[in-house]
Amino acid sequence: MIFTSSIEKVRGYSLKVRKKGKIFGFVPTMGALHKGHMSLVDKAKKECDFVIVSIFINPIQFGPREDLGRYPRNFKKDENLLKKAGVNFVFYPKAKTMYPKDFSTYVHEISLSKVLCGKLRRGHFSGVATVVAKLFNIVEPDIAYFGQKDYQQAQIVRKIVDDLKYNIKIKILPIVREKDGLAMSSRNSYLTPSERVQSRCLYQSLTLARDLIRKGEKDSKRILAKMRSIVKSQKSTKIDYVEVVDANTLARVNKIYGKVLLAVAVYVGKTRLIDNIVLNVKK
Ligand code: PAF
Repeated sequence: MIFTSSIEKVRGYSLKVRKKGKIFGFVPTMGALHKGHMSLVDKAKKECDFVIVSIFINPIQFGPREDLGRYPRNFKKDENLLKKAGVNFVFYPKAKTMYPKDFSTYVHEISLSKVLCGKLRRGHFSGVATVVAKLFNIVEPDIAYFGQKDYQQAQIVRKIVDDLKYNIKIKILPIVREKDGLAMSSRNSYLTPSERVQSRCLYQSLTLARDLIRKGEKDSKRILAKMRSIVKSQKSTKIDYVEVVDANTLARVNKIYGKVLLAVAVYVGKTRLIDNIVLNVKK
């Protein structure tokens, strides 16, 4: 496995792979890898001839009061996991390589970014869009892999690829969960034992909503009220949002049918967690 923080080395490697006519898979990450990330890596290994993973804690996608400083960093463990998985290349650029002092170009997606996580986390998706666009230009992969846990992020990446005509196929893979349903996330490591138990309420609220919808409930207000009451029953929780939206446009829906996204963002103590389920509901 080759490790580098050099953009030129990645470019050279990418060119070589593509010249050979091989399929080049890319998994962008911020490190602190868990089974969710590794499911993306494993899929990339299955589908591609060569796989590159980036590890970069992207400063511009964190707000001033967010957790950039304490975001988990575990490079040695990440390295071992990636080696074991058979990854060919790891790109871990320095912040000053990605954002030199005179950096002044940003990518703003201005529709899907306005709702859900974009409401509270102002600027977050521009930070994501900018780094993903830049990584795509450096790596030039054939296929890039993202997790459904960050559903909105994945939709925005798809939109960027479509709007700006990147010649890259985007694949979105299912959420990987702990045994009790909690979605895998690097931020789960912040939770105290009591918060960890309380954090089950995110998935519980989603599965309750799913069951109600399957039984025929179509009214989103009634469903959201039930979801909120599950989350609120835990003492350390604070709701950022609980929403039912159209899975493509991310616009709120009143009557539930078609492809919908049930999405929650909840503070458990100081830790902000997100989760979601996509449902196809017949009329
Ligand atoms: O999902 C993440 O880990 C990050 O948002 C990404 C896509 C690597 C961009 O920094």
